[in-house]
Amino acid sequence: MNWRIPLSDIDFGPEEADAVQSVITSRWLTMGAITQEFEQAFAAYTGAHYALGVANATAALHMACLALGLGPGDEVIVPSLTFVATANAVRYVGATPIFADVCGTNNFNISPLSIENALSPRTRAIIVVHYAGYPVDMPRVLEIARRHDLLVIEDNAHGVGASLEARQLGTWGEIGCFSFFSNKNMTTGEGGMLTTDSPELFEKLRALRSHGMTTLTWDRHKGHAWSYDVTELGYNYRIDEIRAALGLAQLKKLERNNARRRALTGTYRVALQALTPEISLPFEQHPGTSSCHILPALLPPNWDRISVMEALKAQGIQTSIHYPPIHTFSAYQKPGRGADLPVTEEIASREITLPLYPAMKDEDVLSVVQALQTSLVRSL
Ligand SMILES: Cc1ncc(COP(=O)(O)O)c(C=O)c1O
Repeated sequence: MNWRIPLSDIDFGPEEADAVQSVITSRWLTMGAITQEFEQAFAAYTGAHYALGVANATAALHMACLALGLGPGDEVIVPSLTFVATANAVRYVGATPIFADVCGTNNFNISPLSIENALSPRTRAIIVVHYAGYPVDMPRVLEIARRHDLLVIEDNAHGVGASLEARQLGTWGEIGCFSFFSNKNMTTGEGGMLTTDSPELFEKLRALRSHGMTTLTWDRHKGHAWSYDVTELGYNYRIDEIRAALGLAQLKKLERNNARRRALTGTYRVALQALTPEISLPFEQHPGTSSCHILPALLPPNWDRISVMEALKAQGIQTSIHYPPIHTFSAYQKPGRGADLPVTEEIASREITLPLYPAMKDEDVLSVVQALQTSLVRSL
């Protein structure tokens, strides 16, 4: 479908084309100097001691669970209002995801109180998701983790460049997981990054990324090694040089693009308040600096969301839903222990995601809000 205003759009130009061309010209396509440069630039930007480029954020989450030693018998507390990969990663290692509720209709992030209620003697870790790039209350989550001796993983797929108390998201927990999927604030098509401050975790993650091998093709190419040992069961979760080159180019644009997303979010707030005050935008006055990855809005209760989405579609405006909650999926039905997540369920039934991307114009925001206004009148 040819959308007049799509849900998201990439910011690719000659910089990305040049970056890819230079990798092709170099004739070295995977795990080389560009990947290292990308990792170093990402670590410097986020303030993490270490950064490791990977195939995608799902692989990053899986590796994080593995590196932290999570496995069968362990429980990991996760939100249900997230992409399914957050909870799938827990199941990949044989551990059990336990769903916690989110804070409320103004804050779609995991609730510290609900985390406390989900604790059991088997709880080993918490995975937080910074929904849309708005910071989770990390000081409280870390305090709970300290009190109960738990590990913290940040699923920061949405929040690259966002911060709380001048500390970037993804650097608060033991391990941060980032996504560079094509709708993200910076993209490499598929791609991801892990961050950590721990040298031990970094070494573990590095081995897991490449089959558990002690040396890499790159080391051997550079004449640093002739052979290798395999010290554990690893994976091929590598990023390649073409994606790393795209990532370097995208990282340079990130601050500017995130600032534009924040400005557009402000424009939406004003326009929605003026034209459709029935619709609320969450994360008003939220602490920290958001990456404003998406623009979630809440329709009033009992409004027909699908007909609103259809009406916007008829005007060439793409919308989406973030998220159908994980605990409602068939693959997550468990006999006996159903999740009690009233806030998640309420938000999930009323949420609509509106278009947001850096190249969007203020007039586009107005078009979306006006279309919303007319579609709401019709759907009443
Ligand atoms: C919250 C969240 N976690 C994890 C992922 C998985 O990211 P990837 O597609 O890079 O595997 C996504 C992707 O959309 C996401 O939104």
